[in-house]
Amino acid sequence: MQYTDALTETPDGFEATFAVNVLAHHLFVRLLQDRFTAPARIVITVSDTHFGDFRHNMGMVPGPVWRSPDVLARTGAFPEPHTAAAGRTAYSTSKLAAVHLVHEYARRLPAGIDAVAYNPGFVPGTGLARNAGPVARFAMRRVLPVLTLTPFATGREAAGRRLADVVLGTLRAPTGSYVDRDRVDRSSEESYDERREGELWEAAERFTAAYTAGTDVVPDGGTVPDGGTVPDAGTSRLAPADRAATGRPGGQR
Ligand SMILES: NC(=O)c1ccc[n+]([C@@H]2O[C@H](COP(=O)([O-])OP(=O)(O)OC[C@H]3O[C@@H](n4cnc5c(N)ncnc54)[C@H](OP(=O)(O)O)[C@@H]3O)[C@@H](O)[C@H]2O)c1
Repeated sequence: MQYTDALTETPDGFEATFAVNVLAHHLFVRLLQDRFTAPARIVITVSDTHFGDFRHNMGMVPGPVWRSPDVLARTGAFPEPHTAAAGRTAYSTSKLAAVHLVHEYARRLPAGIDAVAYNPGFVPGTGLARNAGPVARFAMRRVLPVLTLTPFATGREAAGRRLADVVLGTLRAPTGSYVDRDRVDRSSEESYDERREGELWEAAERFTAAYTAGTDVVPDGGTVPDGGTVPDAGTSRLAPADRAATGRPGGQR
């Protein structure tokens, strides 16, 4: 989901891009964790924009600007948050966060439960620009699809087919890996940062605790109406494997 500002808030007070592109995935994984049976694969759709350089998105989207997850989760994380540039920065940053979380899932999920990041490339013609103005929406629907005749864009059917290949395991991809269109590749250098990944996991746990614990915990942490406490990452059933032993996830380093 991409917004044209970084001010849109969810009902529970999170910046909407971060909520949909990061926290929602995390919540989904955590709610389903007891139902995974090996071999299983979780695929999270990420984006070229997480690289933040011209080569990967032709300057269409500003690169990610990392901040503490507590800042990223709220509106106003980026300068001039009412602008489309801030909304797009929130988008690329959320996709970097999603790659980080895939790395952390690779460390924490049980053997045989894989997590993979999938980048379809630029896919014009989808509803991604649904919140943009009429000109941008028209361009996304009617003009930019012509780019699928070039290497700069992926058609919707091809993107879906490749996603299916990743989900079904037709494309072999180790846990923690990044699939760029139809092959395993390295994600951005910035995306391999274990300290950040640990912090993001801990914050995502706090932010989603209300929903994973089935209590009325206030999502931004700490306060529980019945006087209880928000479970912290240390109480999670998904403990990280020995980081020193695993190194970077998926053998990507
Ligand atoms: N299009 C691209 O160029 C491109 C490039 C790289 C990565 N991606 C990624 O690919 C994925 C699919 O995007 P898309 O291009 O196919 O865009 P899309 O047509 O807008 O699809 C977005 C999906 O997210 C759901 N969604 C949107 N807002 C939501 C919300 N507030 N809460 C819950 N669900 C919400 C939509 O559900 P409803 O239809 O039911 O609203 C829809 O299924 C996204 O993760 C996107 O970032 C897209």
